[in-house]
Amino acid sequence: MDASNRSCLNDSYNRPISYLRVSVTDRCNYRCVYCMPPNGVPMRSREEILRYEEIALVVRAAASLGISKVRLTGGEPLVRPQLAELVKALSHVPGIDDLALTTNGALLSRYARELARAGLRRVNVSLDTLRPQRFRQITRYGDLEPVLQGIAAAQKAGLAPLKINTVVVRGLNLDEVADIAGTTLVQDWHVRFIELMPLGEECLAPSPGAADPADVTQPGGFVPVAEMVQAIEAALGPLEPAKLVGGNGPARYYRLSGARGTVGFISPVSEHFCYQCNRLRLTADGRLRPCLLSEGEIDLRAPLREGATVEELKGLIVQAAVAKPERHRLPQRQVPRSRIMSEIGG
Ligand code: 5AD
Ligand code: SF4
Repeated sequence: MDASNRSCLNDSYNRPISYLRVSVTDRCNYRCVYCMPPNGVPMRSREEILRYEEIALVVRAAASLGISKVRLTGGEPLVRPQLAELVKALSHVPGIDDLALTTNGALLSRYARELARAGLRRVNVSLDTLRPQRFRQITRYGDLEPVLQGIAAAQKAGLAPLKINTVVVRGLNLDEVADIAGTTLVQDWHVRFIELMPLGEECLAPSPGAADPADVTQPGGFVPVAEMVQAIEAALGPLEPAKLVGGNGPARYYRLSGARGTVGFISPVSEHFCYQCNRLRLTADGRLRPCLLSEGEIDLRAPLREGATVEELKGLIVQAAVAKPERHRLPQRQVPRSRIMSEIGG
C-alpha cells in the first residue's frame, strides 16, 4: 500500500500509533529469574490462545488503520509450532512493512532460515550474559551455546540489523556490561541494555534488602542507565552518539570508537519515553493492551469468535488507542499486577 494514502491512528495525546506487538504464546522454555517464578505461571489452554487466522485478522484490521510494524513476542514465540506460517501470512498483509521477532534464541538456529524465507525481516535476541554458568543461573534452564549459534544463524539468514537485549540486574550481570558492550567491537550486533522493570518474579518475591517489592529503584536489582554507561566507559572509553538503528523504538544508540556494532540504552524507569510511545500490544489470549505498564485491556477474542468483521475489529483497536494512558505510573509505585512480563511479551 502506498504510504501517502495510508490512514493514521492517533491516541488521545496525539501520539501516532504505528506498532503492534503480538504475543503468540505465554509459554517459555526458560524461567528467567527476573521474569518468572521457578515453576512458571499457570499456562493458558490451547483454546484460550488466539489461532493464527485470528491473529492475522487482527493484524489486517490494525494495518488498515495505519499500523506498519509488527513484532512477534511470547513467552518464547519459537516454542509455538509452525510460527513461520504466521510470519508468512503477516508478511502478505498490505501495509505491514516491518515484521520482526523477539526471541530468547534457544531455538533460533533451527528456524532462522525458514523464518527469513517466510518474510521475517529481523530478530531481537535476549542475552543477559556471555558466561555459560551464569546463563544457566539466570535462565534456570538454558544453555548459552545454542543461543550464540542462533544469533550466527540469524545473521547468516540475513535477518538484520541484529539486536541483542540485555536486562541489567545488580548482583546478576552488572559486572559484565563492559564485556557485553565489547562484543560490538568485533560483531555487527546492536546491543541494548535495558533497565529492569518491576513486572516479573522480582516483584513477586523481592530481592533481599528491598523494602518494598514494588520499588525496584531501591536496593534490589535495579540499575539506572547512567550507571551502566559509567561502567562501560570506564572500561572501554567514550561512547559516541550513533544514528538510530532500524525501527524507532525507545533506545538511544552510541558507538565505541572503531566498533562494528552499536550500544543502546533503554530506560523505562529512570527516564520517561512514554511521550514517544507508538505501540499497542496483543496478548496471546487475545486482549489488546494499550500500555505494558498499566492495567487495562480490551478483549478481542470474544468478538473474533463471535464472527466480528474487520470493521468491528478496527473499532475496538481505535478504542484501545484512545484508552492509552499518557504515561506509566512506576514512579508512583503503580505496578501492573494482573499479568507478568512473559504473559504480555515485553
Ligand atoms: N524488565 C526489563 N526487561 C525485561 N524483559 C523481561 N522481563 C523484563 C523486566 N522485568 C525483557 C526480556 C526480553 C524483552 C522482551 O523483555 O529480556 O529481552
Ligand atoms: Fe522466557 Fe523471556 Fe521470560 Fe526469560 S525473559 S523466562 S526467555 S519470556
